[in-house]
Amino acid sequence: MSSLFRNLLFTAAGLLVTSLAFGKMAQSGSRSPIFGIRLPPNYREWRVISVAHEAGSLNDFRVILGNEVAVKAFRSGRRPFPDGAMIARLAWKYVPSARNDAIFGQTQSFVAGDPINVQVEVKNLGRYAATGGWGYGQFENGSANPSETLIRTCNACHGKLPQSDDFVFTRYAP
Ligand code: HEC
Repeated sequence: MSSLFRNLLFTAAGLLVTSLAFGKMAQSGSRSPIFGIRLPPNYREWRVISVAHEAGSLNDFRVILGNEVAVKAFRSGRRPFPDGAMIARLAWKYVPSARNDAIFGQTQSFVAGDPINVQVEVKNLGRYAATGGWGYGQFENGSANPSETLIRTCNACHGKLPQSDDFVFTRYAP
């Protein structure tokens, strides 16, 4: 074997190993801990279930969106949600709008500021049996938050709801 050919072979093998390693890192970085949930690529196209505002230190605007399966269940009142239901909660900073207030002539307008995070719930009874059939993920700038401690709080709080609500707080806003 010529040394040039051997060098090329080594370089190719090296590149392969590196790209596999990076691929794995990127993949695990974008999945939530424990549940392995990725940010659904088309969540921004989902339909509106409702909106919410948390005051206090959260001080945000929220919109709750659902995929086709979730929206159907919300509209028909079906509980528990069937497998494949996905719900996303998007939050933005709650900021005053001087621009709008100037037109109104008084202080009254608040609008969505910078995005804070996106939280996702995925129903899969077989896979997430230990948490009532729901898997959880939180995403900032599209990447999964890697904190296991954080992700354990999701079911700890949602699990306080009666089972008849299927651990979902939001009610459909017609
Ligand atoms: C201390 C309680 C609490 C914790 C912890 C919590 N949530 Fe929630 N969650 C709520 C409440 C209350 C709502 C409804 C009102 C709102 O959105 O503010 C909600 C709404 C949601 C929704 C919209 C669907 C629904 O169930 O109403 C999603 C999705 C969601 N949470 C995901 C998560 C994820 C993911 C985590 C963990 C990273 C988490 N939540 C942690 C209380 C909690």
